[in-house]
Amino acid sequence: MSDIHQDISRVLISADEIQARIKVLGEEITVDYQNEDIVLVCILKGAFLFMADLCRHIRVPVNTEFMAISSYGHSTESSGVVRILKDLNESIAGRNVLIIEDIVDTGLTVSYLEQLLEARKPNSIRICTLSNKPQCHKTPVQIDYCGFILPQEFVVGFGLDYRDYYRNLPYIGVLKPEIYQK
Ligand code: IMP
Repeated sequence: MSDIHQDISRVLISADEIQARIKVLGEEITVDYQNEDIVLVCILKGAFLFMADLCRHIRVPVNTEFMAISSYGHSTESSGVVRILKDLNESIAGRNVLIIEDIVDTGLTVSYLEQLLEARKPNSIRICTLSNKPQCHKTPVQIDYCGFILPQEFVVGFGLDYRDYYRNLPYIGVLKPEIYQK
């Protein structure tokens, strides 16, 4: 039987740590948006697990929207220019938008998305990411909520993929080097 856990050399953030941190983020968001409501914009595919868990810890009213994007270029490098595969269903004009991302690496994707959504005239726009690699940023990004700071390493799990696999790992980890040679 093939087992995806055997492809991992190191767990960086355990499933329990992820869940505990998501609960804290949900509580912070609840406090910050008192008497408001929020449109959570989940960036697919990577943020689907994070969004699912996070929204259950937010106690102010939320709408959930999904945007599917695919980056151009090589799978482990970002150009920041993204193709929209699925756009939002509803208008965000005059609303409080919270972008939910899996990871900010170069920062190019999220800043491109922020500009794109800003043009639709929301009341406010903030960024919430499960993870962030600050040493890799190529553009200044204002991140409002961040789960974890990661080292400058390619990681998988909890939504993060390699060639569209490993999203279903309940933790964040590093792949064994031989996996990249396949
Ligand atoms: P950016 O470099 O900040 O534009 O990140 C673009 C996208 O690259 C992210 O949304 C992820 O889908 C992907 N990505 C960046 N770093 C990693 C990683 O370590 N593992 C898996 N995907 C990553």
